[in-house]
Amino acid sequence: MGEYSSAIRGLPARVGHEVRLRGWVRRFRSSGKISFLVLRDGTGEVQCVFVKNEVSPEAWERLAEAGHEACVAVTGTVRADDRSPSGVELTASDIEVLGPSEDFPIQPKEHGVDFLLENRHLWLRSPRQIAIMRVRDEVIRAIHAFLHHEGFVHVDTPILTGAIGESAGTLFETEYFDLGTAYLAQTGQLYVEAAAAALGKVYCFGPTFRAEKSKTRRHLTEFWMVEPEAAWLDSEGNMALQERFICWIVMRVLYNQREQLEVLGRDTSKLEAIVPPFDRISYTDAVAWLQAQGSEIEWGADLGATDETRLVEGREKPLFVFDYPKRVKAFYMKENPEDPRTVKCNDLLAPEGYGEVIGGSQREDDHDRLLARIREEKLPEASYDWYLDLRKYGTFTHSGFGLGIERTVTWMCGIDHLRETIAFPRMMTRITP
Ligand code: 4AD
Ligand code: MG
Repeated sequence: MGEYSSAIRGLPARVGHEVRLRGWVRRFRSSGKISFLVLRDGTGEVQCVFVKNEVSPEAWERLAEAGHEACVAVTGTVRADDRSPSGVELTASDIEVLGPSEDFPIQPKEHGVDFLLENRHLWLRSPRQIAIMRVRDEVIRAIHAFLHHEGFVHVDTPILTGAIGESAGTLFETEYFDLGTAYLAQTGQLYVEAAAAALGKVYCFGPTFRAEKSKTRRHLTEFWMVEPEAAWLDSEGNMALQERFICWIVMRVLYNQREQLEVLGRDTSKLEAIVPPFDRISYTDAVAWLQAQGSEIEWGADLGATDETRLVEGREKPLFVFDYPKRVKAFYMKENPEDPRTVKCNDLLAPEGYGEVIGGSQREDDHDRLLARIREEKLPEASYDWYLDLRKYGTFTHSGFGLGIERTVTWMCGIDHLRETIAFPRMMTRITP
């Protein structure tokens, strides 16, 4: 038998032909005279039917020995079959066991999530996890396509940094030769700001790290973020860009990954509702509205998860909340000339209680105000020298935002927890596998 093997996805075009398939055994059952083996290869699944009288005794024996999740090669003829989801099945003539598997730890029964996370390297093979990984891949492709379509240039920013990004409290530290302490990047933003002065519209896309001591459904210690940054963009334009961006991502997922959304049991009508325009509410109006609803929130405090949930309740589309108080946001946001207690920024809250998926802002472009903010926040002034230079040499109006990939995928998939949207999640209490 040659090395050539077919992909399961391509089988509908090969009805009547003999093929050799390689993959893993998803399920197996036998009546004694006839056996059904469901094979998956990453491109799809197909049922292989073995009739005892029509295969060699050796093949029948090998079949019985191939365990759950064993790697096998099956030879057979493709038959059209209306009852199968893919429209085909395989009338098998032979099987080879390429990689046996005995007592696969994950059985077709309910397992606790801790057990599944311990076995994440094997859990990845389950249909739900495969569907989530495909949706994630689509989201990432959509992001690159959209940004290139809009004229953005991809720039990679450092993971090891000397300066800090968002807030000092949540940095991972590591020793860095004779230079003292380096930090894992919380954001690439400060660097894309520099690149925006070279290229106009840029974005970075990479892993970011936050030593946040939060064990919520929405936090990872290592997560992926895309951060577009554009010259001449103000806060209004920034929100318009985010709206187009989100709609494009949702549309691509709906268009290309319906099959996976079906596996996940996602109510796709909820995603079909995501079309422009999105409502916008100022932080100040949001607080007044929340207070009228009986919330204890005071002007000046950050919105908590329950406030965010309340704000989007009954809404089909994401909601922009803009112009937050200065003291709850990062130092680099531009002071609002109309109300200096606030900054020109926005969060984008996803519907269905998925919370903040984007944080963005117009950047402070005035050298002295920025320096004053750095001092106010007691940040290490020296490491911001180069960042302040951007305000000394040709300062410019610019804005940008960060979209969290895992939060977006969680929302697209309609699942409960962020941890399933990345192959190997890093959380406060987990660093293996
Ligand atoms: O709001 P954040 O902290 O904004 C920034 O980092 C800015 N530098 C972005 C920018 O303007 N270029 O984070 C942006 C997004 C959040 O809205 C959320 O989706 C995600 O990153 N995020 C997290 N995702 C998973 N786990 C965490 N611990 C996250 N923290 C933020
Ligand atoms: Mg934020």
